[in-house]
Amino acid sequence: MTIKNICCIGAGYVGGPTMAVVAQKCPYITVTIVDINASRIAAWNNEDLSKLPVFEPGLDNIVDEARGRNLFFSTDVDKAIDEADMIFISVNTPTKTYGKGKGMAADLKYIELCARQIAKVSKSNKIVVEKSTLPVRTASAIKSILNHTGNGVQFQILSNPEFLAEGTAIDDLLNPDRILIGGDDSIEGQKAIQALVDIYANWVSKDKILTTNVWSSELSKLTANAFLAQRVSSINAISQLCEKSGADVNEVAKAIGMDSRIGSKFLKASVGFGGSCFQKDILNLVYIAKTYGLNEVADYWEQVIIMNDYQKQRFSDNIVSTLYNTVSGKKITFFGWAFKKDTNDTRESAAIKVADNLLSEQANISVYDPKVVEERIYADLDYLGTRSENENKALLTVHNNPYEASKESHAIAVLTEWDEFKTYDWQKIYDSMYKPAFIFDGRGILDIQTLEKIGFVCYKIGSGAKI
Ligand SMILES: NC(=O)c1ccc[n+]([C@@H]2O[C@H](COP(=O)([O-])OP(=O)(O)OC[C@H]3O[C@@H](n4cnc5c(N)ncnc54)[C@H](O)[C@@H]3O)[C@@H](O)[C@H]2O)c1
Repeated sequence: MTIKNICCIGAGYVGGPTMAVVAQKCPYITVTIVDINASRIAAWNNEDLSKLPVFEPGLDNIVDEARGRNLFFSTDVDKAIDEADMIFISVNTPTKTYGKGKGMAADLKYIELCARQIAKVSKSNKIVVEKSTLPVRTASAIKSILNHTGNGVQFQILSNPEFLAEGTAIDDLLNPDRILIGGDDSIEGQKAIQALVDIYANWVSKDKILTTNVWSSELSKLTANAFLAQRVSSINAISQLCEKSGADVNEVAKAIGMDSRIGSKFLKASVGFGGSCFQKDILNLVYIAKTYGLNEVADYWEQVIIMNDYQKQRFSDNIVSTLYNTVSGKKITFFGWAFKKDTNDTRESAAIKVADNLLSEQANISVYDPKVVEERIYADLDYLGTRSENENKALLTVHNNPYEASKESHAIAVLTEWDEFKTYDWQKIYDSMYKPAFIFDGRGILDIQTLEKIGFVCYKIGSGAKI
């Protein structure tokens, strides 16, 4: 079975880049990405490639090459479903904010709406691919909805979780560690798996394409994110021990990372992980474990989140206590708001929580981030509901220039590891600040020795107590 026409529902951080790469690598397939968010689709269609709704290094070139040739962005969801042989569901699966499982379980209403729409519109057989991250056994719910259309259309459900990391999405998509495809044992199921394998085989070597049963595939994605987040919380736990004992977390990370059983990746201490996935996927795992009555399993994984929340809290607490136990009326400059460098995504960014804590202490915050726009920053804060929109606007300002942002501030806090922060004229920044001028490096990226020579008083996460 050769796929000629793909529809992807959801034009977000996953759907957009993933399908742009499929279109680039498979010019014989027409790929249509649809979304109910009209302004997002308009942004994907913007002539000016710097205005795409997702910033990822290299994405603009790929969109430029494929858009209008075999890559299309549209709000006409029904038409794209109708014409497709294969449909990727790549919609958001946030944590539930209501009802049973509130604050833990994945909210599957967007997934179910997609399934119902596919069931309603389809007039020919289709392969439906779960690209969104989903609780184990979601495929059976999708199948049940699709199989009750009563119009004789046959559906095959595959699980094909996405492992890209924001900031390196294009590289990850072009050179994946592996592609995971879960499907049915039946002959039809195996044919569907093969159809998807054939697509990836256009640029991924066959030994990197794993095929499994559907449940293993669904659970592998949650497990991968849980393991990654657990490494961050593990090194963050050690970072505090380093600060107390005089050890240096970077040296410890290097020493343990050279052990091939441990490996060196994901051992960078920080103010805490963010991003739309880690927290929500672990909470989901915790919820699933609890549903099966596996309370010890649930508690074990929940600790990863507890540690992460603590890391953010202790970072802001440290700023307050260092600034003589009060930040009221003091200006603190945030370098970075995105949850990591090279993305404009701010979901669950540590900066949001740290800012909220400091604003509650009546600090004035000024923010500079190379890619995050002002509206996003205010929206992130307003969403918390801690204070009114007007209060947030009065207490926090957003700047387009780091030197403007840091002028007359008492302290600078580095919240994102953007490379450009390392290359600033730090003497110029120092000269414009109140003294003592403090730096709180929540990402461990700055050269503290040079900064101390200039006169800064520095705190670097995980580095033996200096202050
Ligand atoms: N962001 C990541 O790094 C990442 C990585 C791997 C997996 N994932 C998973 O991929 C999924 C999507 O994540 P994302 O970051 O792209 O989310 P996103 O919020 O950026 O995009 C989802 C899009 O789906 C659209 N949508 C929702 N319901 C729709 C419907 N019924 N019809 C049409 N469009 C609809 C929304 O308008 C939105 O634009 C999630 O399950 C996430 O866990 C994300």
